[in-house]
Amino acid sequence: MTAFPTVDCTVYPYECDAFGHLNEAAFLALFERARWESLARGPGMDVFRRSGVWPAVRKAIIEYRAGAYPGDVLRVETLVTHRGTTSFTLKHVATRVGDGVLISEAELVFVCIDSIGRATPIPQEIARLLGPRTGGGRTGGGDVLRVETGGAVLAVEVRGEGLPVLFVHGFPFDRSMWKHQLAALARYQRIAPDLRGAGASTAPVDGYSMSRYADDLVAVLDAAGVDRAVVCGLSMGGYVTFELLRRHPDRVHALILCDTKAEADSPQARHGRDELAALAERAGATAVAERLLPQLLAPATHTAQPEVVQQVKAMIAGTSVAGLVGALHALRDRPDSTALLPQIRVPTLVLGGADDQIAPPAVMQAMAAVIPGSQFATVPSAGHLAPLEQPLATSRRLADFLGALA
Ligand code: MLT
Repeated sequence: MTAFPTVDCTVYPYECDAFGHLNEAAFLALFERARWESLARGPGMDVFRRSGVWPAVRKAIIEYRAGAYPGDVLRVETLVTHRGTTSFTLKHVATRVGDGVLISEAELVFVCIDSIGRATPIPQEIARLLGPRTGGGRTGGGDVLRVETGGAVLAVEVRGEGLPVLFVHGFPFDRSMWKHQLAALARYQRIAPDLRGAGASTAPVDGYSMSRYADDLVAVLDAAGVDRAVVCGLSMGGYVTFELLRRHPDRVHALILCDTKAEADSPQARHGRDELAALAERAGATAVAERLLPQLLAPATHTAQPEVVQQVKAMIAGTSVAGLVGALHALRDRPDSTALLPQIRVPTLVLGGADDQIAPPAVMQAMAAVIPGSQFATVPSAGHLAPLEQPLATSRRLADFLGALA
């Protein structure tokens, strides 16, 4: 993912309100100042004008995390989280230089328009500046390691420095489901593999199991030079995390269990796995996407976030049939992990979408209740993919948990 030069902005008294805080409306101006300053330090502030286009803001999402005051110096990181044909998305993260506190995060979607306001393709010079296209919602960019393990080659994104956090995606997804958290949690080392058979990793024809996936994660940590990590697993990523805890407990510093459950499949669910594998072999990954989509996302996501629906659909449709079938066999045959829960001795956050149909909040809460000292939280207006459906709220819960660990 492309990063613009980091810019430090001092908070001026005239930007603050009667209570002495940097005013909420002034944050957008501050982020704008940081953007133009980055351009001034790079290609020049006239880069748009000389290319004959203008970046119009189509959408802005902003989260206020802590107050800022006159004289505070805010460090603004700017990352390109998406680049399409005519549009691109920038994420700004402001932290206070004095104490490292996260002050605000914002995501802005821009559309390139021409002189009469029509959307127009991003000109080459600007495209080069923004970095590679991110079609299908793949995160793109970043340091991507290739890790050979057990007959597969895994693609592993590694970003930043600090406490290592290993992000393990669910089924049938890939590491791009964590793209917002990989961008937002800038104070941590983020390690996000595509599991075997998913994303940009290779897909061996057989040999898939929870224990194989868990051993793959050890190879990933070894390749990144990490002894112990906070392991953040979503759904199947949670099942793999349980297996990692059983097989390699010394590699787990803390746990984040997202939209997951400890029980093994019922006989009926096992039958459903075989049926879905047969559908994948007969009709391909797109048919699997059509079958799964209705239950994956919250009703609010289906109606109000068509781009998220599209990303999830593209992510599933892009998975190889061998990867789908292998994962379904691993899911079908996974062991029950309920007996493990009371033995967990690391700090644990259990986090789920309030509208998750696959790992409903009541199941998640019951799981949290038997993990000693664990925390439980839900993300409103999110289904099974809270990190994509409600990225800011999810990242905030993760940042709170990680901040307390650090
Ligand atoms: C997942 O998201 O990983 C799946 O929903 C897991 C499952 O089907 O049990």
